[in-house]
Amino acid sequence: MYFKVRNLVKKFNGLNVVDKLSFNMEKGEILCLLGPSGCGKTTTLKMIGGFLKEDSGEILVEDKDICSIPPEKRLVATVFQSYALFPHMSVIKNVTYGLKFKGYNKKEAYEKGKEYLDMVGLLKYKDKNVTKLSGGQKQRVALARALIIKPKVLLLDEPLSNLDAKLRIKMRNDIKEIQKKFNITTIFVTHDQEEALSIGDKIAIMDKGKIKQIGSPKDVYNNPKDEFVASFVGSVNIIGDKFIRPENIILDKKGGAIKGTIVSKQFLGACIDYVVNIDNKYIKSKCINNNSNDFKIGEVVYTRNFY
Ligand SMILES: Nc1ncnc2c1ncn2[C@@H]1O[C@H](COP(=O)(O)OP(=O)(O)O)[C@@H](O)[C@H]1O
Ligand SMILES: [Mg+2]
Repeated sequence: MYFKVRNLVKKFNGLNVVDKLSFNMEKGEILCLLGPSGCGKTTTLKMIGGFLKEDSGEILVEDKDICSIPPEKRLVATVFQSYALFPHMSVIKNVTYGLKFKGYNKKEAYEKGKEYLDMVGLLKYKDKNVTKLSGGQKQRVALARALIIKPKVLLLDEPLSNLDAKLRIKMRNDIKEIQKKFNITTIFVTHDQEEALSIGDKIAIMDKGKIKQIGSPKDVYNNPKDEFVASFVGSVNIIGDKFIRPENIILDKKGGAIKGTIVSKQFLGACIDYVVNIDNKYIKSKCINNNSNDFKIGEVVYTRNFY
């Protein structure tokens, strides 16, 4: 394994905010750390980045413990939510900043800067003042600045949360594309389940300083191990000891084994969310908005196979 975290602990005021956290990553993998606000995501990244000292545990890159290496020598780069760019500098000066400490002369740094700006698609903006760029462009400058020092691990702490909804979705693809191009081992922190499912090679669901489940997005979504995980990565019906996603409750006007009545309806454009009363249980159903799925409140519907 390329990157390992072993029994990592951080206490604040006597409480384990990060509580014996362990996980492994292969080289070039992107892991999304997903969990509610306050569960310890940022604290975990700060320890990996070297900005916060762990109380105990190990952080291993290629089997070497990096815990005693100061942040500027760790070869771990962090991109924060706020980008933390230097506002008085040009785009290329921002990108090449970290090379100052790596023995590059001005010309070499400039050439490297151009190379990295080209890779994030911003070469033509190199001489602009960084404040003139859009939110998505600033995000890519922050990425280029992090990547230029050739880190072994890249940390992204809620990097898209300052962008508007449409751009966030576009940037998911951009980040993944850049991440794969550089084959950089990346931890992407988010509290947005859809973002995690779409970006991660693996996702780790975190709660109260612990990882509750780690796996491929499909595996975690389809086989959640408990109610917390099931409801954190999506909406769920809990029927006995089974978790059934609303999109698996298929409704039909006639036929089908189980009878119910539409209780509520929410039109969402591509989908329609219903609540169906089946034997006095309120069951959620997510239907595609096509001609066969338009039901009225009070209408009798049938569904199959969920008991
Ligand atoms: N420097 C600190 N001193 C005391 N408590 C802290 C400090 N930093 C974070 N915490 C607490 O640790 C918990 C986890 O915080 P954080 O890692 O920022 O969560 P997340 O990033 O998942 O929202 C929270 O309860 C937070 O209030
Ligand atoms: Mg945080």
